[in-house]
Amino acid sequence: MNEIKTRTKPYEKPENIRYPNSEISIDVIDLKKYYRGKRGYDDVKAVDGISFQVKSGELFGFLGPNGAGKTTTIQMLIGLLKPNDGTALINGYDIHEDLPNIKELIGVCPQEAAVFKHLTGKENISLFGNLHLMPKDEILRRTETLLKTLDLARASKRKAKGYSGGMLRQLNLITALIHDPMILFLDEPTVGMDPRVRRKTWEFIGSLKQVNKTIFLTTHYIEEAEALCDRVAIIDYGELLDIGSPKDLMEKYQTNDLEGVFMKITGRRIMEGI
Ligand SMILES: Nc1ncnc2c1ncn2[C@@H]1O[C@H](COP(=O)(O)OP(=O)(O)OP(=O)(O)O)[C@@H](O)[C@H]1O
Ligand SMILES: [Mg+2]
Repeated sequence: MNEIKTRTKPYEKPENIRYPNSEISIDVIDLKKYYRGKRGYDDVKAVDGISFQVKSGELFGFLGPNGAGKTTTIQMLIGLLKPNDGTALINGYDIHEDLPNIKELIGVCPQEAAVFKHLTGKENISLFGNLHLMPKDEILRRTETLLKTLDLARASKRKAKGYSGGMLRQLNLITALIHDPMILFLDEPTVGMDPRVRRKTWEFIGSLKQVNKTIFLTTHYIEEAEALCDRVAIIDYGELLDIGSPKDLMEKYQTNDLEGVFMKITGRRIMEGI
């Protein structure tokens, strides 16, 4: 599908931004991504001018219904998709100008499993470590630790083509983490995992806060987001509907849990036909 070319002038850095700002890991500024609709259909405003900041060391949940624009946003933040307008700074580096620097800082667990099926789990992990130019002994050391922590040690010598959906997610999470990145983008990291592995994975994601990682996470497991995230943003139809700590949002919308907030905010838009 064609992308709409809304940018007509050369990219200009927005004014009045602190650059770089070490307290802010991710600074999203009026970010937009539109897709041209097929014949007879409206254009899709996948991301329609969202702005927010994620602090360094924060576990940040990016929540929204199917098709809300979460993956599209992540793809722009990691340099896989070019925005139509707006920008984002990752640790002060601009996604339009500084992608090589950004790629050094980030680890990505994409929504669609990105592993080489003909390689074993271990070989996949080594490959990612090598791509990040890690020393061999460091790759081996971290591989062993991560395999144990994320419960994939037993299957790690088997080819990934025989992995179940949940195992592929586990492997993808490890490949995202192998180079010990400062900032992690996790797009539905626990989909397809059985409850025990899922709980272990959530505990592990939570523990990354202790070592001061910034985590940008999408999930449909709202309960886990409530338990773990410092703050969450809720988006729908490409727009940011609200942002805050789970506790503050539950107070604001007078609900007992974050799922209630989610239902109220996203449901209202459906009811009112917005
Ligand atoms: N390549 C594309 N061409 C046209 N429309 C697209 C394309 N990619 C995404 N979209 C549309 O953009 C919108 C946002 O999609 P996106 O994948 O970002 O949603 P999401 O919030 O990640 O949803 P989910 O929870 O289902 O993963 C959707 O309406 C989707 O159909
Ligand atoms: Mg998605």
